[in-house]
This record gives sequence, C-alpha cells and structure tokens, in this order.
Amino acid sequence: MQQICNGEGVSISTGLLARYTAVRRRTVQLVGSLSAEDCQVQSMADASPLKWHLAHTSWFFETFVLSALEPRLPRFDPQFAHLFNSYYHSVGAMHARPQRGLLTRPGLDRVMAYRAHVDAAVARLCSAAHPQRWAELLELGLQHEQQHQELMLTDLLHAFSCNPLRPVYCSEAPPVSKEVPQRWLRVEAGLRMLGHAGEGFAFDNEMPRHRVWLDGFEIAARPVTNAEYRAFVEAGGYRDPLLWLSDGWAQVQALDWQRPAYWGDDNTQAFGLYGLLPLDPHAPVCHLSYYEADAFARWAGAALPTEAQWEIAMVDQGGEMPTMTALRPVCENAPALGQVWEWTASAYAAYPGFRPAPGAVGEYNGKFMCGQYVLRGGSCATPPGHARLSYRNFFPPAARWQFSGLRLVRELQT
Ligand SMILES: [Fe+2]
Repeated sequence: MQQICNGEGVSISTGLLARYTAVRRRTVQLVGSLSAEDCQVQSMADASPLKWHLAHTSWFFETFVLSALEPRLPRFDPQFAHLFNSYYHSVGAMHARPQRGLLTRPGLDRVMAYRAHVDAAVARLCSAAHPQRWAELLELGLQHEQQHQELMLTDLLHAFSCNPLRPVYCSEAPPVSKEVPQRWLRVEAGLRMLGHAGEGFAFDNEMPRHRVWLDGFEIAARPVTNAEYRAFVEAGGYRDPLLWLSDGWAQVQALDWQRPAYWGDDNTQAFGLYGLLPLDPHAPVCHLSYYEADAFARWAGAALPTEAQWEIAMVDQGGEMPTMTALRPVCENAPALGQVWEWTASAYAAYPGFRPAPGAVGEYNGKFMCGQYVLRGGSCATPPGHARLSYRNFFPPAARWQFSGLRLVRELQT
C-alpha cells in the first residue's frame, strides 16, 4: 500500500520477465488493503468489480499471449473464457458487462490462483526461445494491465463514493497544490507532425505519424483548477442553457448535475481515494464530463484544445510525464502533466492511414472510434511510465468517473 500511495512505478524493463513480474505485482498490491467484499462490488454498469479486473487481465494474457506461443496449452478453467472476456467478439461470447458484479463465483482466492497459474506459464515461456512478435504481444498485455490498474482505482473510487461510511483507500497525508498563476503559451501557425514517433511502445491508435496544419493559438500553461471551476459553479454555470451543448444540457437536467462528481453539496469538500477532504483550491479540477469541460471553456471565453493543439504545444514545452504521482491530482508547477486526463475538442477517430493490429487484438482500439472524445495527458491514477505525449485516451462525453479535467486554449492575442 505504501508503495502504491507514493506512486512508485514499476521499473522500466530490465528484462521481459522482470517487467512482467513488476507490473503484475503492482496490480495485486492495489487490492492489498481491500477486503474480498470491496473487490466484489460493481457500483454501476461502466465500472467493474476489482475481482473481475484481476481475472480479466489474466484472461488477456492467457488468450492472446500464452495461446500465441502454445495454442494447445490447457486453459486454467474453460468457463473463464466467457466470464472474463471483455469485448473481444472474435474470440467468443462474453458475460454481460453490467452484470459482472453478480459473479460471486469464482471467489477471490480462485481468481488469485488463476493469476498465479498464468504467471507461471508466462515465466516458463519468457525463459524459452520466443519470437519478437510474442514479446510484442506480452508488452501489449502489460500495457493493457496498466490501463486496468487505473480503472481499478477509478472503479473503486466510484464504489466507495456510494458508501455513506466514506471509506478511505489511501491513509497517507494527501498532497496539497501550490498556487500556480495561469500563463498562456503561444504556438505559431505552421505545418506540424502529430502522432507517435521513435522507439518504445505505442498503441496502434497513436499512429501513423502524420502532418497537420495548425493556425496560431495560445494554450494555458496549466489545467483549470478547483477554485476556477468553483467560480463557474457559483456563477450559475449549471443553470445557464446558453453555455451547454444540447446533449450536455439534457444530461444536466436528467441527472441534476450541479457540480463535478464527488464534490460535496456546498462545493467546499470533495471525496477521493484519501476520503472526504476539503477541496484543494489550486489542484486541477477533475471528475468532469466532456459536457462540463466544454461549458466551462465557453463560460471562460476560451475553448478546449484539439488533440493536435494539445500534443504539439506540450511537445514544444518539452512536457514530461511525472515519475511519481499521488492518488489525487496536484499542481506544483506548469504544465502539471499527468495529473488529470484533459478533455480535448477532438472526436476519437482514426489518424489518416490507421490500420488496426492484425488478429483479435485489432479489436483493442479501432472499433471504438465512434461517439467518444479524446483525452490527453494522464492522471494521478495512471501508472508512472504508462502514458506519453502521443497517448490517446478516449471516453464517451458523459463519462466523469475518471480523473478528467481540462486545459483551455484561445486564439492568439495580439
Ligand atoms: Fe481489458
């Protein structure tokens, strides 16, 4: 628990098996202080039980990595193929997502035995001769597991937020943000390159690297803070339909949204993985939907950046992801990357020339390129070392259980 709260990430590869072991161990550490009941609950359809995450990440290795090298390797339990498949229709049917919390069997012990079984098989195959493609699939499995590590934290936070006892996940002292005055960073017009380049892992949706034209713009040096967003709330932002997209206004009305998720009714407290705490005024605001981020930007006389504006501005700044994070967003200096996922104005779509990975893993990203928006950066719940400037996260516009905030952009001021 100590290690996770301090955000000490896994060391980057000192060998394939060492990296595998470190990532898998971190997943188990995330549930080290939790009960089997904590790991069982599913608080909404979008979230999954932690027990399911523990099993599904093992299913991914068993299905796409182990079987790639040893197709005849017996399954730990053939029924798990149905229970723990998420959305890979090309490998078979799956249990309904909203009903994952009903899976009281297998128990947590059996799921942990499943993990140990997969780990032993991976260790055996890592030690043997294997083709490069297999090593690439293993790396994909590790990146996938890191994505689920973040989801485990955000799904747990949502479940805990539904509990009147206000459970505390991390009992360490929470970090407190400094006041970082807002500045605007100027980016001149030009033909620029967008997307992943170079060595190192990237998901297929970050490629191919391609040219984009950008008119000149100014982007905020740091994300919008809680204090700035509270001013919007207290100015009646949630009651003015002129600020909202039609779908967003419908959502505000239907769900009676009046403030970000997890804020207390008086806008002075927020619930998080450290429990219920006073709102940190200078921390990046988070748990916003796209609609709320968009409405705030309009109210502020600015806009959300496109993903091209965001990536190119951050590359120009030499922006680096944090190597350590706490379990709530903190702002200590600009650009405060890696604290909240930042909504962009860009619909999640294929880059020109995009090709999904071959085979069933091609279902990983490409088929979701409809009806969602891109978020950039990374959050306090993202495992250190996982995200990068070309990383494209994506969620439907109403989603707000992730650590999602925003950064403003505006036209060049003369
Ligand atoms: Fe998954």
